[in-house]
Amino acid sequence: MKQVTVSPALAPFDLQCDSIAADKSISHRCAMFSLLSNQPSKINNFLQGEDTLNSLQIVEQLGATVIREGSDVTITPPVELSEPHDVLDCGNAGTGMRLFCGLLAGIDGNFVLSGDKYLRNRPMSRVVKPLRHIGAKIDGRENGNLAPLCIRGGQLEAFRYESPIDSAQVKSALILAGLRADSPSYYKESLLSRDHTERMLRGMGVEIETQKDGWIRIVPPTQPLRPLHITVPSDPSSGFFFAVAAAITPDAKVTLSNVSFNPTRIGAYKALERMGAAIEYALTEDLYEPIGDITIRYNGQLKATTIDSHIAWLIDELPALAIAMATAEGTSTVRNAKELRVKESDRISATLEGLSRAGIQTIEREDGYDIIGGTLNEATVNSYGDHRIAMSFAIAGICCGMTIEDVECIETSFPNFYDILKEISEIHNGN
Ligand code: S3P
Repeated sequence: MKQVTVSPALAPFDLQCDSIAADKSISHRCAMFSLLSNQPSKINNFLQGEDTLNSLQIVEQLGATVIREGSDVTITPPVELSEPHDVLDCGNAGTGMRLFCGLLAGIDGNFVLSGDKYLRNRPMSRVVKPLRHIGAKIDGRENGNLAPLCIRGGQLEAFRYESPIDSAQVKSALILAGLRADSPSYYKESLLSRDHTERMLRGMGVEIETQKDGWIRIVPPTQPLRPLHITVPSDPSSGFFFAVAAAITPDAKVTLSNVSFNPTRIGAYKALERMGAAIEYALTEDLYEPIGDITIRYNGQLKATTIDSHIAWLIDELPALAIAMATAEGTSTVRNAKELRVKESDRISATLEGLSRAGIQTIEREDGYDIIGGTLNEATVNSYGDHRIAMSFAIAGICCGMTIEDVECIETSFPNFYDILKEISEIHNGN
C-alpha cells in the first residue's frame, strides 16, 4: 500500500489550474453512449483515470473499435454488440457497473459485470430490482445485490418508475433500459440528480423530456442516434479539492478552467460561498453543459454551515467540504446524507476517523455528522481505498502536514492530482 506525506503549503499561492481531470460522469457516458449510434463518436479530453478507462475497455469487449490518441478517443460502434468472451471489469466504478446494467439488460447475450473488492461490496439492488421488474434477467450474490452480476439480456417492458432515491446512476440505468422498450417509459425522482444522461442523449437525438409534473418521458428511438462530438469539461468534483485549498489558506487564490457549471454539480461551491469564500463564475460556452472558469479566493476564516437539502448536488464533495468545515468557526452539520455510507467507502466513518486523528471533534450520525471547527493537526490517515478521502486529506495536509495511506485509488479519477498539488506543497512518497 502506497502512502504519501503532504507538507504545509509553501506560501500564499495563486494557482491557475488548466489541467483538472476531465469529468468522470461525462467520460463514462461518452464511452457507453457511443454504442447507441451507428457512426464514430469523437471525444476529446476523455478522462484517463482507471474508472473510465475500464468503461472504454468494456465498450471494446462489446465489439466497438476504440482509437486513443492521448486523451482524444474515437469510438466506432459495432453493427451489433457482441457477447464478450470474458468478464467485464468495472474496477472501482459504481457508475460503470450500474449504467452498464441498464444498457446490457436489453441486449441479447450473456454478460458478467464485476469489479474490485470495494465495488463488489456496494449495493446493486437499487438498479437490479427495478430492472428485473421490467423483465431484465440479472443475478448475483445476495439475490442480485452484490457483483459479480450476471445479465442475460433480452426484451424489456416500458415502465413508470418513481425512484425512492435521488440517484443519477439509477436514473441513467433505467433510461438506458427504457431506450430498448417497445413504448415510452416514465421515470421520476424527488430532486433532480445530475442530468448528464438526459442532456447527452437529447443531443444525440433521443426524445427525452421532463414533463411539468416532474416525470421524465423516454421515447425509444426508431433510428440510430447521432454520434457524440464532445470535449469533456473538467470535473467540478476534482476541481473542488483545490477550491477548498484556496478557501482555507490565507491570501490564496485558485482558478479552475473549463469546468462544468451544471447546477446539479456545483452545490459544494455554493456551500463554500455560504461559508465565506469568495467565488466567481465566468461562463465560456454551453454545449450539452454550461462550461466556464471558477475563481476561488480566501476571504477570511470560514464560518460553519448546515447542509441538509439538495444532497445529490454535492454528495461527492462532502469529504473535501469536511476539511473546510474542520477549519471553520463554529459547528457545521450534515444531514440526509446516508448515501455517503455506500460510496467507494463508508465516507461518514472514513471522514470522521481522519478528522479525529487530526484533532478535530466530530459527532457521527446515521445520516451525516457534526464537525466542530478547530485546528487541524498533522496526522496519519487511512483512505480506505477511496480516492475522494485520500485527496481530501491531502488538501488538509497543506494546512498542517498529513500522511495518507492507501493512495493508489487516486488513479481512478485524478491521475495528475499530485502534479497540481506539487505547485503549492511538497509531497514525499512513502511505501
Ligand atoms: C454519478 C452519480 C452519483 C455520484 C457518482 C457519479 C454518476 O452517484 O456520487 O460519483 O456519474 O451518475 P449516485 O447516482 O449513486 O448518487
